[in-house]
Amino acid sequence: MKKLNIAVLGATGAVGQEMLKVLAEYDLPIEKLLPLGSARSAGRKILFKGKEVEIQEATDGCFKGMDFVLGAVEGDMSKRFAPAIKASGAVYIDNSSAFRLDPEVPLVVPEVNGADAFENKGIIANPNCCTIIALMAVAGIEKLSRIEKMVVCTYQAVSGAGQAGIAELESQMKALAAGEKPEIKTFATQIALNVIPFIDAPYGNDYSKEEMKMQNEGRKILHDPDLKVNCTCVRVPVMRSHSIAVTLRTAEKVDIESAKKAIASFPGVRLIEDYEGRCYPTPIDTTDQDLVWVGRIRQDLTDENGITLWCCGDQIRKGAASNAVQILRLLAEKD
Ligand SMILES: NC(=O)c1ccc[n+]([C@@H]2O[C@H](COP(=O)([O-])OP(=O)(O)OC[C@H]3O[C@@H](n4cnc5c(N)ncnc54)[C@H](OP(=O)(O)O)[C@@H]3O)[C@@H](O)[C@H]2O)c1
Repeated sequence: MKKLNIAVLGATGAVGQEMLKVLAEYDLPIEKLLPLGSARSAGRKILFKGKEVEIQEATDGCFKGMDFVLGAVEGDMSKRFAPAIKASGAVYIDNSSAFRLDPEVPLVVPEVNGADAFENKGIIANPNCCTIIALMAVAGIEKLSRIEKMVVCTYQAVSGAGQAGIAELESQMKALAAGEKPEIKTFATQIALNVIPFIDAPYGNDYSKEEMKMQNEGRKILHDPDLKVNCTCVRVPVMRSHSIAVTLRTAEKVDIESAKKAIASFPGVRLIEDYEGRCYPTPIDTTDQDLVWVGRIRQDLTDENGITLWCCGDQIRKGAASNAVQILRLLAEKD
């Protein structure tokens, strides 16, 4: 593989910092690493592979000479910089929701639809974190029979809201332990010792934008415009790794043993039938790794063709940073 010039846009955030970690871990041949942030972070130094690298302020001119730009900023910033990245000739792999449903932009989970990445016209989108984790869990079953619909409930970690989400749970836990009133800044209400059954903004149909992503993005990734998903997204006081309960319906009946075999053999997935005496993963089990763990695989008692399962995955890694770096590696290896 040729040596690569890689910029990380938003290198100081929860996802950006993890991208740097994953880039170092995957040991890709990197000629130049360019960590970019806002003016607030410019000049700060970070360690990359044991060497100090200075964070630069992102500007339109800074992408010149880059082969890839990994995006870890909000959608408005992503849209702001995308034209300059495109003009530089770099391939932009974006984590925000800005381009996910753009028909010109492939939306890619390498294990599920990696071939789509090669259709890119300069921008590739990383799907929503829960969409990646849930699709990784069910993609093995999808190979046995088309999935017609999924009913989903997510249990999403506070780090899904970035550094601010992590800081909010930490400070509220400290305040409660000290007998003080927790301060609410990032989430709509107290998250410590609570759950919040609404994530993101309203979509306009009684669901939230976060809840509609799994259907809208799932349809694009699976190339199935008729896939139906009914999702409820819940924020829970977990630091990291999202958990998801899925009940799906297949077009043809898939028996539970075949479903388990298909899940176990799908790359990037670990089937949990007995892990330390339990048949299920928890978010702590999957934190700091790329594997999506799947357990509690059961026959749906209300539907002959239904299967119910539970999965957990580190949403900052496979749900964001690792998935983006895996797309980059896929393209770089082909070149
Ligand atoms: N957190 C997750 O679990 C997760 C999962 C999947 C996808 N995503 C998506 O990934 C993206 C990043 O999320 P995050 O959780 O990492 O957010 P975050 O922790 O809030 O980080 C935001 C990053 O954006 C940078 N930024 C803000 N304004 C900028 C500007 N004007 N120019 C350049 N950089 C700027 C910040 O730099 P400064 O520090 O300099 O301000 C920081 O590095 C979002 O689109 C999010 O939806 C997040």
